[in-house]
Amino acid sequence: MTVIESQLAFRSKPQRSNVVPPRIAAEVAHYQRRRSDHLTLPTRWYRDEDVFRFELTSVFPYAWQLAGPLSSVSQPGDQLLADVGQVPIVVTRGRDGLLRALVNICQHRAYPVALENRNSPLLQCQYHGWTYNLDGSLRAAPLCSKEELSGKGVALKPASVDIWNGLVFVNPDPDAESLADAFPELEDLGTEWELAFNDGDYEYRGVTSIEIDANWKAWCENANECYHCPTIHAESFDAEFKSLKDREVRVTQNLVGAINGYRESGPVLARHGMDPTYGERYVYLHPGSFFSKDDYHIFAGYTVPVAVDKTRFVSHTWARKGLDPAFAVDWENMWERTMGEDADAVRLQNAGLRSGMMSYGQLSSPADEMILKFHELVVRSYADVATRG
Ligand code: FES
Ligand SMILES: [Fe+2]
Repeated sequence: MTVIESQLAFRSKPQRSNVVPPRIAAEVAHYQRRRSDHLTLPTRWYRDEDVFRFELTSVFPYAWQLAGPLSSVSQPGDQLLADVGQVPIVVTRGRDGLLRALVNICQHRAYPVALENRNSPLLQCQYHGWTYNLDGSLRAAPLCSKEELSGKGVALKPASVDIWNGLVFVNPDPDAESLADAFPELEDLGTEWELAFNDGDYEYRGVTSIEIDANWKAWCENANECYHCPTIHAESFDAEFKSLKDREVRVTQNLVGAINGYRESGPVLARHGMDPTYGERYVYLHPGSFFSKDDYHIFAGYTVPVAVDKTRFVSHTWARKGLDPAFAVDWENMWERTMGEDADAVRLQNAGLRSGMMSYGQLSSPADEMILKFHELVVRSYADVATRG
């Protein structure tokens, strides 16, 4: 390999590790041995900096994650930002019509080349003005001679991009298997549960985010179970949905999902005389992407692990077209309140997880069926690290 080839090889891959630290490997083995006891993951995995670092370097850089709506990158020049773990990604629609995912890090001195979702024919770093084409190739670098930079392979690092039912997914690994190979259940589930995000009945509303004072896994766990719905969401989600009874849980090899039917006496629904039919469909894709679609509202988002006990959830939302605005506001408020109650719950839980006073919790089956599956997905994502070449 020539020097230039080795530079190119270096540039084409995120820096990652395929080593599972011995203590984590021992904990994975312990979990697998005691699986039938229905213990939780070790609480250390929610507070330990080394575990967090392991996830950032060895799990997220190989993971598919939802980025946003395909409609936001439909035109040449469209740019959509997302973070996978702590890898910043920009999805572009090129002038050649191709969709690409690029690592959003300028190859000069690491400033982002895109700061917001927008349309522009170029990616321009605002720090010293280096400019890239939408395919990631370097176009111009102020005060630098072409001779000096040419042949050095300077370009934005490529990542992988895929689409499903109107949503864009990204993976920092440029050699990732397809989304359909990673989640083969998605296609049939999308049809069965009418999970299209481009069917014209819903209007895209934009992107929001909330900050959560807890480890990212605690946030995802909370999303994955409704055991807590009658207790902490008694006046929000659980007032409108039959979240424990008339709930169909779908646990497959690679994902977790559920449909929650509506209550006939839901206060918001009753106040506005609404008569919904389908129910709320929820799907979780490890690590950290989940979406929910009900008759009136959709959110599709991803979880950003900011620090070991700081998490951001970035959420794209849609609303059913033609809704009475007063109902739409009330329904949105019900969802916002629900999310706020979830964020409060995991913040309070975080104190216990951090205390060091409990090594494992005790789950129960079937009450914790979705949590048991989530833990299996976490353990699998850790164990898979050792099998990579
Ligand atoms: S860091 Fe991008 S131009 Fe300097
Ligand atoms: Fe909740």
